[in-house]
Amino acid sequence: MQEKNMEISTRLRRLRQSAAMRALTRETDLLPHHFVAPFFVMEGKGKKEPIPSMPGVFRYSIDTLVREFESYMKLSISALNLFCYVPNEKKDPQGSEAWRRGNLLERATKAIKKEFPESLLMVDIALDPFTSHGHDGLVERGTIINDKTVELLVKMSLLAARAGADVVAPSDMMDGRVRAIRQALDKSGFTDTAILSYAAKYASSFYGPFRDALSSAPSFGDKKTYQMDPANAREALRECALDEEEGADLLLIKPALTNLDIIAKVRAQTNLPLGAYQVSGEYSMIKFGAEKGFLNETAAFYETLTAIRRAGADFIFTYAAKQVAELL
Ligand code: PBG
Repeated sequence: MQEKNMEISTRLRRLRQSAAMRALTRETDLLPHHFVAPFFVMEGKGKKEPIPSMPGVFRYSIDTLVREFESYMKLSISALNLFCYVPNEKKDPQGSEAWRRGNLLERATKAIKKEFPESLLMVDIALDPFTSHGHDGLVERGTIINDKTVELLVKMSLLAARAGADVVAPSDMMDGRVRAIRQALDKSGFTDTAILSYAAKYASSFYGPFRDALSSAPSFGDKKTYQMDPANAREALRECALDEEEGADLLLIKPALTNLDIIAKVRAQTNLPLGAYQVSGEYSMIKFGAEKGFLNETAAFYETLTAIRRAGADFIFTYAAKQVAELL
């Protein structure tokens, strides 16, 4: 039965009618080279330990990590970010394992760059995986102190740069650390080592699974005196502007999905490359949702990662990098 057509002059569905038309008119792309794959490295040989709060994510010893990363390189994911898993007996209140010569961070960095010189290796710079209290800074009388912490972050950054890291990525949210790290790197001749600043990092419940992965949950209090209040947007713009002025090469917003507005605002403010971190809680929500059978995980990753790109992120840290790259 041929009805009379409605008088609609502009029919947007014309642009959605075939896969080819949708592809032609798609505004945002998602490609393997947009991803940074976070890895958890641990001591030992031949180790691959599952992390119960993050299905599909493992802690690797250096040898198995190198083998695993090869499969990422084959999928055109050449950027990775390294976190160290530190056993409790190596933790102390200063996190001194973080900058000890010959530590896991140094050996893992060297091994990866030796095996994959063409990879882009970022090293997380923060004390929390190394401190007995789980905070990102030194603690004096119950307070996380800023300036002495920055000195330690500088030492850790120099260690990472010496070992061959392409990028040091301070995730601690202390004030003034980007400038201090830049000056120290330059003074030691590491003028080519880039700084990715976790510029706007919010105090978030979505870091829960990550803290399980590194057993790094704070033993007292919370991180609200250094990580940002999720209620604030203007403050994020100040954080990003300041880190840019201090010499950051790349900026990162985190978590991603709760801060799409921040990503868009920072994108409008800066010409620096901008990234976002789809954090552990965002990842595990999708994984456990899929396990319960109420969503398709690959489709959910594709959708969330595309939305993060659409908001304005150039690159995305995601634990689903390989899974999504296999689909693309
Ligand atoms: C700590 C750090 C955290 C994450 C990255 N670096 C956790 C925290 O601040 O407690 C979280 C990443 C994730 O949840 O995937 N410096």
